[in-house]
Amino acid sequence: MEKKNIDWSNLGFGYIQTDYRYVSNYKNGAWDEGCITTDSNIVLNECAGVLQYAQTVFEGLKAYTTEDGRIVTFRPDLNAARMVTSAQRLEMPAFPEERFIEAVEKTVKANAAFVPPYGSGATLYLRPYMFGSNPVIGVKPATEYQFRLFCTPVGPYFKGGVKPLTIRVSDFDRAAPNGTGNIKAGLNYAMSLHAIVSAHEEGYDENMYLDAATRTKVEETGGANFLFVTKDGKVVTPKSDSILPSITRRSLIQVAKDYLGLEAEEREIYLDELGDMAECGLCGTAAVISPVGKIVDHGKEICLPSGMSEMGPVTKKLYETLTGIQMGRIEAPKGWIHVIE
Ligand code: PLP
Ligand code: COI
Repeated sequence: MEKKNIDWSNLGFGYIQTDYRYVSNYKNGAWDEGCITTDSNIVLNECAGVLQYAQTVFEGLKAYTTEDGRIVTFRPDLNAARMVTSAQRLEMPAFPEERFIEAVEKTVKANAAFVPPYGSGATLYLRPYMFGSNPVIGVKPATEYQFRLFCTPVGPYFKGGVKPLTIRVSDFDRAAPNGTGNIKAGLNYAMSLHAIVSAHEEGYDENMYLDAATRTKVEETGGANFLFVTKDGKVVTPKSDSILPSITRRSLIQVAKDYLGLEAEEREIYLDELGDMAECGLCGTAAVISPVGKIVDHGKEICLPSGMSEMGPVTKKLYETLTGIQMGRIEAPKGWIHVIE
């Protein structure tokens, strides 16, 4: 397979159009058989449900070239399951989980020339999504939907790669108790755009959202969960019903325990205990683990002891083990690696 002529090592996190994508339509209560297409455009009615009432959910996962030259994806079954949960919350029909995996396989295979080579630092980001496609003017669910899956080669989500980030405690809330914070719906990201633009204008890389009810507990950022290492070496991540159940974070907890022999716990984390943390990272498919060096809470600086020049030692071990598993250098737990070819 001849690869595309792309400067893999200098990619940012952007959209590069690839040759093929997968499409399936839902009508009269059933999904059609779906197919691969070269058409990257979508023509919609002006009143389509997604355009009026934001009825759309999505997923994000990656394909990797392993050390021995295979193309693999990481735990796609969990993305398939999460997309069903997201769809149900927005009254959308579930896209069958086995069909989701089939769409991943077909799209990655068709775009094998875009899967970044091993060692390049880049990966192929896959974006499955679905939306209400027929006209809806009263507030109600659409009756027709489209599922799509496209892919794009990407580099690091944050410019500067593994340089520690500076984040601020946001005055905006991301998710309400009993709201939609625990699903991957486009609406959660639309409402975060003002907060991220103003964070960037003020020189911060991201927002730390707090729980909306008490504003005392750490939730997550706009696109990643938090992971902390306490000063006594324990890995802790926020437990909340209003954050996205990150597949990366759940995997890292298992990596911490089973591969690194660390204590790891999901629990409520209070803003006023951040001074007791030794390391902090943002974890997610796009973010992988991006280290945080400083958290600013309305002028009060919380400087993580790991500093502003490199990842803390535990974060680094977690990063190396997780990416080692994803790139086939380290044996994966059963079922984590889905071989495409
Ligand atoms: N939190 C939010 C809000 C996200 O958008 C993402 C990205 O998917 C994550 C967390 C990380 O989830 P995952 O590790 O499943 O990619
Ligand atoms: C992902 O990590 O897959 C996400 O969806 C985060 C997104 C904000 C880029």
